[in-house]
Amino acid sequence: DIGAALASVADPGVERATLDDLNKRVAAAHDRIEQGREADEFGYASLNLPEATDADAIRAAVAPVDDADSVITVGIGGSALGAKTITEALADDPGSHVVLDNVDPEHVRRTLDGLSLADTAINVVSRSGTTAETLANFLVVRAAYEDRGVDWTERIVVTTGEDGPLRALADQHDLPTLPVPEGVPGRFSALSAVGLVPPAILGIDIEGLLAGGRTAADNLAPSLYDSPAYAYGAMAYALEEEGAKVNAVMPYAERLESFGEWFAQLWAESLGKDGRGQTPARALGATDQHSQLQLYRAGHRDKVVTFVRPRERADVAIPDPDHEDLSYLSGTDLGGLIDAEYEATVASLPAADRPELEVEIDRLDAENLGELLYAMEAACVLVGELADVETFTQPAVEWGKNATRALIRGEKTDETAVIDKRERL
Ligand code: PA5
Repeated sequence: DIGAALASVADPGVERATLDDLNKRVAAAHDRIEQGREADEFGYASLNLPEATDADAIRAAVAPVDDADSVITVGIGGSALGAKTITEALADDPGSHVVLDNVDPEHVRRTLDGLSLADTAINVVSRSGTTAETLANFLVVRAAYEDRGVDWTERIVVTTGEDGPLRALADQHDLPTLPVPEGVPGRFSALSAVGLVPPAILGIDIEGLLAGGRTAADNLAPSLYDSPAYAYGAMAYALEEEGAKVNAVMPYAERLESFGEWFAQLWAESLGKDGRGQTPARALGATDQHSQLQLYRAGHRDKVVTFVRPRERADVAIPDPDHEDLSYLSGTDLGGLIDAEYEATVASLPAADRPELEVEIDRLDAENLGELLYAMEAACVLVGELADVETFTQPAVEWGKNATRALIRGEKTDETAVIDKRERL
């Protein structure tokens, strides 16, 4: 079960009366979301994925490559971060999923050089099938397999839309292909083939992830007091209204570090519109207690910190120290220590009159992770409704994609005219 705790009154902060008023708008937003889900409208259809995703079809598509020791994902943004978050949290070997999203040539070369390609499956993902980074990296990866005498057509699964160059290449080479679900923007697609192919190849419980998503869907209710997802979304919205322009997400679990990256995309790309939207920041507990916490507790009053932690986890005993100054560690374990760090840091913010939000899951397993991902997506959709922004579009991202393609092709477009006009000092 996930739980979202409400922030204590701080500066910026939210009064209970404000929340009670906001709750009427939450009920109206919930109605709108449910109508959108029922009609499978663009974007809202994302919240039907736990029911709509066919885990058996994914398992069948990956069967020819599920003997692989590792997977390389070629995709970017919403076509990569869901799978990265899931495998980082749940794979036995965190190094078994490698993501090539960036086109930094040195990184691509070093990554490919370090992999045994004969034992590595390729997962190529692009909703549009046109994204330059993904297509370019796919061509490079393919050539690397050929150079090492490995038949890449036998090691690959492609997930893409109905049209576009990636679909054409998949058809040309008769590659196993899974569809990107209709009406689901990339950043909302973790619980579809887009996010589930690498976990399926690595033997992760994708059925459990979907079951967790269904639990979170069942927990949506027309009141923020009855729905953890809406409690989180409503508090984040109310705090933004009161001045919390930055939302720093700080998981207390190394296995959730990529969750912060996934959340940052979800929040920024969905809500950064019409001159508003919280800027997501990424931190990791306990590591960032030793760096960013100073700013969060004593810097500008423009932030809320979102803490995320599993209540239970496997533990490591701390061996008895042989120095009396360390005797306070005697009989404790690393889990006890990180929990103490969590409690101390969470408490330190209201003590400095700063707001914080807490999201807890029982433990970091497939069901709880599926529930967490879905709940955050639902929270994001709620904030979009309350803020009246177009949650499911990303015109600023498309601007950059179009400009890149025009530059590479040497075309003159509105975007390249802006680039040509830039002045450098
Ligand atoms: O959320 C989004 O829409 C984006 O982050 C896309 O996922 C990203 O730009 C990749 O696009 P595509 O899947 O079309 O290659």
